[in-house]
Amino acid sequence: KKTIYRSVCLALVLLVAVTVFQRSLTPSPFLQEHTLPTLGLEKDSGQLVNSNNFWKNKKDVDTPTPTASLGPQAWDVTTTNCSANINVTHQPWFQGLEPQFRQFLLYRHCRYFPMLLNHPEKCRDDVYLLVVIKSVITQHDRREAIRQTWGREQESAGKGHGAVRTLFLLGTASKQEERTHYQQLLAYEDRLYSDILQWDFLDTFFNLTLKEIHFLKWLDIYCPNVPFVFKGDDDVFVNPTNLLEFLADRRPQEDLFVGDVLQHARPIRRKDNKYYIPTALYSKASYPPYAGGGGFLMAGGLARRLHHACDTVELYPIDDVFLGMCLEVLGVRPTAHEGFKTFGISRNRNSRMNKEPCFYRSMLVVHKLMPPELLAMWGLVHGNLTCSRKLQVL
Ligand SMILES: *[C@@H]1O[C@H](CO)[C@@H](O)[C@H](O)[C@H]1NC(C)=O
Ligand SMILES: *[C@@H]1O[C@H](CO)[C@@H](O)[C@H](O)[C@H]1NC(C)=O
Ligand SMILES: *[C@@H]1O[C@H](CO)[C@@H](O)[C@H](O)[C@H]1NC(C)=O
Ligand SMILES: *[C@@H]1O[C@H](CO)[C@@H](O)[C@H](O)[C@H]1NC(C)=O
Repeated sequence: KKTIYRSVCLALVLLVAVTVFQRSLTPSPFLQEHTLPTLGLEKDSGQLVNSNNFWKNKKDVDTPTPTASLGPQAWDVTTTNCSANINVTHQPWFQGLEPQFRQFLLYRHCRYFPMLLNHPEKCRDDVYLLVVIKSVITQHDRREAIRQTWGREQESAGKGHGAVRTLFLLGTASKQEERTHYQQLLAYEDRLYSDILQWDFLDTFFNLTLKEIHFLKWLDIYCPNVPFVFKGDDDVFVNPTNLLEFLADRRPQEDLFVGDVLQHARPIRRKDNKYYIPTALYSKASYPPYAGGGGFLMAGGLARRLHHACDTVELYPIDDVFLGMCLEVLGVRPTAHEGFKTFGISRNRNSRMNKEPCFYRSMLVVHKLMPPELLAMWGLVHGNLTCSRKLQVL
């Protein structure tokens, strides 16, 4: 009875949200504005806003994807047996690199690690959309806020579709003292929620690429038939109603890969930048097109092919760029979409737009919100929100 009541409520909320959303949406000058990115990157303008539902992409690619492949039936890596590659230390440029790059290169060839927490059952029912979120062991509060808001699982994605399921992707604590204290807590958290995948590698910034390939391999084994996957960070705001609306006229067979796409982004050569890359590691002038890792959508079939494509690409310290390299191997271009704001609604951090619920209601993904802000914004967006036309264009 409770589930019936819940789904009726959900359907109602969905209907109201969609109606209000479609009514209130008008193209705004703001949406067409192109500010210069902060990272010294050039951003693709993407599709121009179209009058009614700007997030619906007219350009459809209809390439059926072959899905037959007989891989392992379960996670087949059970021991960590990987020693440092001392070959690389003989390279003339090696000693001149920063310590984290030396560490990265020494273990670059170690690609797969055992699983500590797994959920082979996650896709046993009919799952329509799998939501996966990169998280680290210490950020329990972010996971909790996401479970209460956009990460909440749903039994049906509407219109006879399967369920929406959520998983968090983790490695092990990067600091020794954290490892002992947090691991047990994490195991307990997982017993409560059954939504954590954990692999036995250190959860560091440069190991995020490991998280990417581990997830793709996991998906290939345990969720071979899931039509769509949303992958994102744990500090973003996601509007699941809009995500499902966007997917409603998509076919899983398409090579769907959509997000905040960067074209011709140049590697950062300033050493004080988080994304600094020495020329020894990447010498080309620009990266292939890639979607910012804050949140993107992809078709399950494409994700499986990505898994195999990524196996042919050397690991790269920036995970979203790495995925762009895998897409390039497949010859698939990621699609830019205005509803994905992984650099914030306005790149000016102090802009009022970054706090405006009416914008959040019309977006798919917005970076970045801390747990209290996320909970508050979620409440506003799902409360009695009246968006005047004036507010829409601000
Ligand atoms: C680890 O790998 C080395 C060389 O590849 C091999 O000789 C050794 O038996 C392996 N150890 C384990 C525990 O698998
Ligand atoms: C190091 O070099 C040797 C000899 O060239 C090669 O056989 C080995 O596979 C290399 N090790 C790694 C980890 O690449
Ligand atoms: C990635 O994780 C592995 C396994 O825990 C570790 O040996 C390696 O140092 C980590 N790499 C970086 C760059 O942190
Ligand atoms: C919504 O508006 C109604 C009437 O204006 C009010 O009674 C109710 O408390 C409001 N609900 C929320 C969640 O703000």
